[in-house]
Amino acid sequence: MDENLNLRNDARAGVPEKPLMRIDILTLFPDSIRTVLSTSILGRAAEKDIIEINCIQIRDFTENKQGQVDDYSYGGGWGCVMMAQPLKSCLDFVLECAGERHTRVIYLSPQGKPFDQAEARRLKSGYDHLVLVCGHYEGVDERFIETCADEEISIGDFVLTGGEIPAMALADSVCRMVPGVLSDEECFTGESHWDGLLEYPQYTRPEQWAGRFVPEILLSGHHANVAKWRRKQSILRTKKRRPDLYAKLVFTEKSDKKLLAEIESEEISARERGLEGQA
Ligand SMILES: C[S@@+](CC[C@H](N)C(=O)[O-])C[C@H]1O[C@@H](n2cnc3c(N)ncnc32)[C@H](O)[C@@H]1O
Repeated sequence: MDENLNLRNDARAGVPEKPLMRIDILTLFPDSIRTVLSTSILGRAAEKDIIEINCIQIRDFTENKQGQVDDYSYGGGWGCVMMAQPLKSCLDFVLECAGERHTRVIYLSPQGKPFDQAEARRLKSGYDHLVLVCGHYEGVDERFIETCADEEISIGDFVLTGGEIPAMALADSVCRMVPGVLSDEECFTGESHWDGLLEYPQYTRPEQWAGRFVPEILLSGHHANVAKWRRKQSILRTKKRRPDLYAKLVFTEKSDKKLLAEIESEEISARERGLEGQA
């Protein structure tokens, strides 16, 4: 079953004794996850042994000759339900392989607690081993969830065919905050949802594209003014696009209060101009 433990290179000199975050994904479709999580930033972090992500085939743990992992739902109804036994045996295997760690077993479910950046931060700082259980078909025998899962997490109020995409989303969002995965903490602390705000708009070369110009302030080289402009854009964007998030924000910094006053007076002038236009 060693082929299941597959996104980490062999131990090498100079690398952490054990990865800072280990994620074991229990799934019927390990290849789909491997392909995605072994590329780009997370793939490089796994190569450096900063993180370890394993995809474990649940089917390898069935105790019946047919390799059956699901069966009809008691009470009738459409579709099959994943059996508890292969899942429990698979879970026992990964818990044994992982050894002493601060582990959290999570069943990905549309009925779970909604996932967001704060939840990702909670998992990253509270645990160094996540076991993500991917359901498929109609879901998983309730008795497995009751006895083995520490919590259920949903990635949104919609239903997917399986837990693989939710598991990848969760693993990615947690792992990118592990020290050393991105070049600097600022890479994620300055991004949308870190402090309740959406990020400011970003531009790259060329300065003019499709008749549109990069805002002049970003070309000025004046760092303080750029920072102020970006903060204002963040506040404006959040207010306009996500009034639900904006309503929860508490601005205590003097500089933010100044920006809010600026935004308010600009909004008043815009409204007045609008009224004049109608007259
Ligand atoms: C078709 S769904 C089962 C839905 C289940 N019958 C229900 O109505 O709650 C199959 C699997 O996909 C995963 N899944 C689907 N939607 C999800 C979501 N929004 N968040 C997390 N996991 C989800 C779960 O692992 C689930 O067991």
